[in-house]
Amino acid sequence: METSSVLVAGATGLLGSEICRLLRAKNLSVKALVRATADPVKTGELVKIGVQLVQGDLRDKETLSQALQGIKTVITSVSSMPFSYNPGENDIQSVDEDGMINLIDSSKSAGVGHFIYTSFSKNLDLDFPLRNAKRKVEKHLQNSRLTYTILRPGCFMELWLSAAVGFDAPNEKVNTCGPGANPLAYISYKDVAKFAVESISNPAAKNAVLELGGPQNLSQLDAVKIFEEALDKKIEVGQMPIEALQSQLDGAEDPMQKSFSGLMLCVANGDRIDMKEILSKFPVELTSVKEFAHSFA
Ligand SMILES: NC(=O)c1ccc[n+]([C@@H]2O[C@H](COP(=O)([O-])OP(=O)(O)OC[C@H]3O[C@@H](n4cnc5c(N)ncnc54)[C@H](OP(=O)(O)O)[C@@H]3O)[C@@H](O)[C@H]2O)c1
Repeated sequence: METSSVLVAGATGLLGSEICRLLRAKNLSVKALVRATADPVKTGELVKIGVQLVQGDLRDKETLSQALQGIKTVITSVSSMPFSYNPGENDIQSVDEDGMINLIDSSKSAGVGHFIYTSFSKNLDLDFPLRNAKRKVEKHLQNSRLTYTILRPGCFMELWLSAAVGFDAPNEKVNTCGPGANPLAYISYKDVAKFAVESISNPAAKNAVLELGGPQNLSQLDAVKIFEEALDKKIEVGQMPIEALQSQLDGAEDPMQKSFSGLMLCVANGDRIDMKEILSKFPVELTSVKEFAHSFA
């Protein structure tokens, strides 16, 4: 039986697919845990780069013990939020919390050596379901006696500087979360993937929590200026007031809506991450917001 395999859970997602790509570029043996319902275009892309598919679902422990046979390292970027969310079926409680705990426990039983978990920055720390699930899973992993790495990235620039959250620079319209003046450590998901892959062999990742940001801490308004320069356009800036975000957080019934409002409030509050020490141990070149903005020019 092969014992050097890496299992990537979340491989059809943004971060997980990039992790698979980097692992295959290093010629490592990679298995992807994919759901029966996964998009065949996405699974086809994985197969094309030499990833072996294994069917499984975090909500179904039996599928996990099968998938974990012979696996040395697990990397997970699974989340139900936002694209895989199906309330009462595939949601924060059943996937991000209970499902992730299933994956940790099954990994322990299967004799996995190293578990690499994608959480989020310690500064994203208000009381909302996704944050509560992430912190509970982190503790469970730390108490599991598995060798662990907890990746805690800040905001992905590809999402938080996009129209999906009101930052529509190409169409010259941005709505900041709150006044937009507090610094954030925007990071590219592609750089998070580099840290995930590097964590397999870097001793500094063993039993470590890695707070991951980009090369600079920038406010939302700083990011607007950078896009204005890159696109040579004037961007109209509005804002989602703090009070509105707070009342959405207080009033939302649905755990995903509550979590989105909570995340937006956290973004308004800022998320500063200093990368100096981590970069002295991990040779990762970080993408800047300026480079990202120029990709739209
Ligand atoms: N976006 C940000 O700014 C940010 C910042 C910090 C941390 N993060 C974290 O980064 C991680 C990766 O984010 P992403 O953007 O790559 O997410 P994504 O694109 O939405 O991918 C989520 C993945 O989870 C899988 N999944 C969902 N339910 C599952 C289940 N029951 N069993 C097995 N797999 C399941 C999905 O598979 P299907 O294709 O089958 O649905 C998909 O592969 C998440 O944990 C997120 O919280 C994100």
